Amino acid sequence: MIFQAGDSDEGREFAAATADAIFSRHGTLEAGQAFYADVKGRLAKYGRGRDSLKVLPAATFVLGDTDAEAREHAAHVRRRQVSGQTAIKLLEQVWNRDLSAHDPDGPLPDVDPVAGENTVAKGRASVRMTRDPLDQARKWRQLAAEKNLSIRDLMIEVSARQTFVGSPRTVADSINDLVQRDAGDGFILVPHITPGGLDTFADTVVPLLQERGVFRTEYTGTTLRDHLGLPSLS
Ligand SMILES: Cc1cc2nc3c(=O)[nH]c(=O)nc-3n(C[C@H](O)[C@H](O)[C@H](O)COP(=O)(O)O)c2cc1C
Repeated sequence: MIFQAGDSDEGREFAAATADAIFSRHGTLEAGQAFYADVKGRLAKYGRGRDSLKVLPAATFVLGDTDAEAREHAAHVRRRQVSGQTAIKLLEQVWNRDLSAHDPDGPLPDVDPVAGENTVAKGRASVRMTRDPLDQARKWRQLAAEKNLSIRDLMIEVSARQTFVGSPRTVADSINDLVQRDAGDGFILVPHITPGGLDTFADTVVPLLQERGVFRTEYTGTTLRDHLGLPSLS
């Protein structure tokens, strides 16, 4: 099995030419559909069928007995995920300078981001790096002023939130809807607690997906390739 994660034109082409599955961060309806159509559309020129590459966006989730309970829990989880220190680190990715002297519970820095090559954030962070830090800073200052947000509040507000939040029924319905509408072939779940964080999902959401006939009730093969419904290699 070759799993690839790339988002650039080159990365998508590489996946279309060689990968069995592509991991993406486009898990919402519109962004997911656009990514899905783009990547699947590249397969034909490599003589590959549309089912030979699975598009599997990353998805986080928070479950509750009711939608309201799940939303409340999700807000709590977000706050725990973005500590003051994390908030400063996230802000440094855009500001491109050391902000460790700033109070995360205080206002945004008065100084502007450093333009040019980012020397603070390397690697993974660059995947979601903003193209125009000065413009980003201007927008964030405006948002912080409007809503009276501290650095930490703002980072919670603007950084990724959970993909699926709700009761098991709500979550099963959204996942099924997104897959039926070609926003993905499925999702790679990223639980906020590991290793036990998938248990509730497996116990409460999976049975509902099985009821709808969109999730297997028994394995029909013995390999990951089989489980993903990929064509066999021979
Ligand atoms: C959804 C997604 C998740 C990724 N996760 C990681 C990761 O966990 N660690 C890492 O080093 N790079 C990660 N990457 C970076 C990719 O492996 C790759 O280096 C980067 O996306 C460059 O390819 P691109 O220019 O085609 O996007 C991720 C990329 C994407 C799109």
